Amino acid sequence: MRTSKITRDEALKLLEKYNKEPFHIQHGLTVEGVMRWYAKELGYGEEEEYWGQVGLLHDIDFELYPEQHCIKAPDLLKEGGVGEDMIYSVCSHGYGICCDIKPEHEMEKVLFAADELTGLIWSAALMRPSKSVMDMEVKSLKKKFKDKKFAAGCSRDVIRQGAENLGWELDELFEKTILAMRSCEAEIQKAMAERA
Ligand SMILES: [Fe+2]
Repeated sequence: MRTSKITRDEALKLLEKYNKEPFHIQHGLTVEGVMRWYAKELGYGEEEEYWGQVGLLHDIDFELYPEQHCIKAPDLLKEGGVGEDMIYSVCSHGYGICCDIKPEHEMEKVLFAADELTGLIWSAALMRPSKSVMDMEVKSLKKKFKDKKFAAGCSRDVIRQGAENLGWELDELFEKTILAMRSCEAEIQKAMAERA
């Protein structure tokens, strides 16, 4: 079983040490919430804390070192007391993009797929009158996915590759990730409002 060497509080402080932009904190909290949902959904409830912290910390080096994404992360994480297994998990989400650390564990495959997809879902949510994922359906997300001009920075290839790694159809990945984002939306909004 995978367990984290640090507490959730320590993980958040570590993220905050290297990230000041609210957008980056929000993205970390979102991927954390999504990973926690997936841990429970896929039968890894006992590892929820590990999955969550991997999500929270996955982009730790991106704000300060965008050119060395997943390359700087090991140093920052090691200094913060994070274990080698979690460092591997974090870096594996850059596989084929900025490093050659392959997602092996199911959790790493979920991170790889869901990270990019949360970006697309969040952009799509902002276009809605509700500004929320609570009333978003797979059908409308599929339209946004097909529209290459929409949120062009979210790589459709990475999302497709992510679904393939998991052995899932795209629809399944979409449906699950929408549910995962619904599960944590209110809590994250509250956390971000408290920080503002
Ligand atoms: Fe990310």
